[in-house]
Amino acid sequence: MRTVTKDNITDVFLGYMSDDMDPRMREVLGALVRHMHDFAKEVDLTHEEWQAGIAFLEGCAAIESEDRHEFILASDVLGMSSLVDMINSSPDATSSSVLGPFHVSGAPPLEVGGDMKRDFGGPVLLAEGVIKDTDGNPIPGAELDIWQTAPNGLYASQDADQDMYSFHALMTVGADGRYGFTTVKPVEYTVPSDGPVGDILNACGRHPWRPSHLHYIVKAPGFKPLVTEIFPDDDPYLDQDTVFGVREDLVMTYVERPASTFPSGMALSGKITEPYLHVTFDVTLAPEG
Ligand code: BEZ
Ligand code: FE
Repeated sequence: MRTVTKDNITDVFLGYMSDDMDPRMREVLGALVRHMHDFAKEVDLTHEEWQAGIAFLEGCAAIESEDRHEFILASDVLGMSSLVDMINSSPDATSSSVLGPFHVSGAPPLEVGGDMKRDFGGPVLLAEGVIKDTDGNPIPGAELDIWQTAPNGLYASQDADQDMYSFHALMTVGADGRYGFTTVKPVEYTVPSDGPVGDILNACGRHPWRPSHLHYIVKAPGFKPLVTEIFPDDDPYLDQDTVFGVREDLVMTYVERPASTFPSGMALSGKITEPYLHVTFDVTLAPEG
């Protein structure tokens, strides 16, 4: 028999792990438990506080569904999603940023130069750029999955008034690696805050706002897929994104240009009568492996 004490419980736990277990599992689980034990000792955790932590997890599980991912949201607002992103991001590639819960698969194809906003009004944004490798060569045939909120700040899946693919599009670039599309300038919006994660935000005196952004997933054979976002440099929430998604290389200037400069060869060419916003955002993918 071994007497368990406050001082040896971590070593006892580590000793219970079998020699045959997967070495990476041993490393990750062992470190997790070591940090949890240290945390409990550091703050002199009470029974009530530990129960509150368990109640938080139960509250997340109770509202978890296909449309509501409270555990992922918890990971987002606690900074874990972004930390894991940054640990795993390739230094020569465009930074990755949070996926969030609103990506849908099966987005309708949009040709290069197409219009993603369809009948929605609001400031027109022309977004374009080149998908390239770390040597600066274009990647022909790269695929760009794009999504954003409607002008009311809601994603299609949150809003019964939108069809399920509004502001979702899938673009395949040509031999020059260029993408380009028109949309409505995205707006800043709040992450869901009516559940246990909202309680954490309130307890911290934090708001639930994210700066406005466009989401991209960029994929090409032979390259690591990239999940990222683009932010305008004048957004009021840029320095206080509640999910910690902003990276320096993802912040772009949206330049206002006169209607007369709108390029030819796009779905909206000849139809723009007001000044429009223009952002150029090149995406660099890291090689696989
Ligand atoms: C989003 O940008 O769509 C998002 C990211 C994290 C949590 C909620 C929403
Ligand atoms: Fe988003």
